[in-house]
Amino acid sequence: MKVGVFDSGIGGLTVVKSLLDKKLFEEIVYFGDTARVPYGSKDKNTIIRYGIEAVEFFKNFELDLIIVACNTVSAYALDEMREAATCPIIGVVQAGVLATSNAVKEKSSHILVIGTKATVNSKAYELGLNTEGFQSLQTKATPLFVPLVEEELYEGAILNAALSHYFCDIEAPDALILGCTHFPLISKALQEYFGEKTLLIHSGDAIVEHLQEKFHLDKKYEESKLSFFASENPEALRKIAQKWLYE
Ligand code: DGL
Repeated sequence: MKVGVFDSGIGGLTVVKSLLDKKLFEEIVYFGDTARVPYGSKDKNTIIRYGIEAVEFFKNFELDLIIVACNTVSAYALDEMREAATCPIIGVVQAGVLATSNAVKEKSSHILVIGTKATVNSKAYELGLNTEGFQSLQTKATPLFVPLVEEELYEGAILNAALSHYFCDIEAPDALILGCTHFPLISKALQEYFGEKTLLIHSGDAIVEHLQEKFHLDKKYEESKLSFFASENPEALRKIAQKWLYE
């Protein structure tokens, strides 16, 4: 099994980490559009165009599956990408909805979704969660977390100021959907902020669950061959991947 993993930048590496932990693929080809990140402040047509370009890039490899490890792209561009692709494509939003539905048994639970402006404006999570029967939903765009993660500020005064800025009038939810693949890197700080009772839903774990449930992937590969591509400065991406995935 050979899979392509796509994100606007480095956030999708958190999904790669989950795939590696479960040894689901023989080969993983990662593409981060580092020259054009962030996608979260861009409009729908631009996000769709970038998504289709990523599909074209992946045609250089004979892939069995493409994982869109970017909530922003998953929220807007999956249909168009599927039309352009020659292999199946799955996205983290749909997987996140499914994972929430599996993990949160009480439909009246209060669920907070955080993500980029584009993801929040798309209402993709709300639509999916409503279909699953959840009614008590709140969304909050938290775009500042993206550059903080890119700067590796996973803790400290600047992150704490951003947490208070976004959440000072928000009560701790029963479940918090990390609707941006950058956010698992600050999950410790988010968990501390909201407390142990809040369940965090992570796109990487959600994708693994989705693959196991819908694609019945049960074979384990001892080693996965990994290659990294970026639209700008691939060396920087490789370095950060080395750090995030193996240290
Ligand atoms: N990693 C992207 C996501 O999951 C967000 C970063 C961006 O704004 O490009 O939505």
